[in-house]
Amino acid sequence: MKILIDNASVVINNDGIYSIKTKSIVIEDKYIKEVEDTVSDDEFDLVIDGRNKLVIPGLVNAHNHSYMTLFRNSADDLPFDKWLFEKIIPQEDQLSGDNVYWGSMLGIMEMIYTGTTCFADMYMFVNETSRAVEESGIRANLSRGLVDIDGGGDRRLDEALSEIKDYEKRDNERIKFSLAPHAPYTCSKDYLEKVISKAHQLNLGINTHLSETRKEVNDIQDQFKVTPTGYLNQLGLFDQRTLAAHCVYLTEEDMDILYQKKVNVASNPTSNLKLGNGVAPVKYLVNKGINVCLGTDGAASNNTLNIFKEMQMISLIHKGVHEDAELITAQEALYFATSAGAKALGFKRLGEVKAGYLADLSIIDLDKPQYYPRNNLIAALVYSTTGEEVETVIVDGKVLMHKKIFKTIDVERVKYEVTKINNRLKRGI
Ligand code: NI
Repeated sequence: MKILIDNASVVINNDGIYSIKTKSIVIEDKYIKEVEDTVSDDEFDLVIDGRNKLVIPGLVNAHNHSYMTLFRNSADDLPFDKWLFEKIIPQEDQLSGDNVYWGSMLGIMEMIYTGTTCFADMYMFVNETSRAVEESGIRANLSRGLVDIDGGGDRRLDEALSEIKDYEKRDNERIKFSLAPHAPYTCSKDYLEKVISKAHQLNLGINTHLSETRKEVNDIQDQFKVTPTGYLNQLGLFDQRTLAAHCVYLTEEDMDILYQKKVNVASNPTSNLKLGNGVAPVKYLVNKGINVCLGTDGAASNNTLNIFKEMQMISLIHKGVHEDAELITAQEALYFATSAGAKALGFKRLGEVKAGYLADLSIIDLDKPQYYPRNNLIAALVYSTTGEEVETVIVDGKVLMHKKIFKTIDVERVKYEVTKINNRLKRGI
């Protein structure tokens, strides 16, 4: 497939500074072939008129549980422990594999709708979320959540490993896998050691939750006389490429460990605020040189999967908390949501609109009231965009949504299926 996006405003990354240039973009197969003032080729399968459009790198949602769209708006205004152990886990216990497939598909649909082209997911039921990723055409780094507090740890690890093995044969470069020990408080020490040794053996990345709540830090400190970060470091978890979600409560020493071990931190500002878990020390993480990216977390604690909202939130909350309007600029927020996320998820040549990069991009309709007058479009992208303005989404050189019409997802079927599942969950069967 050969696509031309003709004469568009394009977000260009010049040595870490984003600017807007008028360019034409040629996409051939999976890659961006040209980003030039005028293009040499003249035969295309699809030509998109780029006038009054803004082309941005596809956004990366670095922490999600996509199937949790099924629990959206079902457990709100509750403290973390009540939310997780009394509302979410009992609902999860009632889910079938098919339910997880439809919940994941709804999550993917919402991400594409708001310009996200790649995500990290921690989920349950092997083959279901990956099937939704495969069919929808989105890009993902997937990991089956590993928990052993109920004694089912080995079964979950076996499921994770057999799925990874299954996908090795399929040669699908859009999907990567990690191992996901859920958190220091839901995995025993023996189990963590087993998972870490498997990750070393198979050279797999790790996706985990870390220092999300004050209670977690206190409990781990009481039990092991060390912070959660120090504890996982002692076990060797950070020796593999690690994506750690939240990292709200960190000591100076914890941050030194995260920096030395090149741990990627997925900050989830809305989820942390909504569950009353606080504000991550993003200012200090960035100053240390730690790779910070952005996630929504599941829709049960957000309640959307919209990275535009997270860009805005991470910038505003840190300006407010630190009483410093220069903190977390629009430029930084955009970097967190694109290149930093691509790096954290282990995808190379991803996160920029640049020749030779993977053709993952979103096109925004600039002909909306909130984009007039035209001053700074990078600021507009972070502070004025809701996500509704995204018109077209391309992943791996394939059009997934054009003029808000989905090309790979049967939207009405997804709405029908998740409504049916939700009715059953509400009846408690
Ligand atoms: Ni999470």
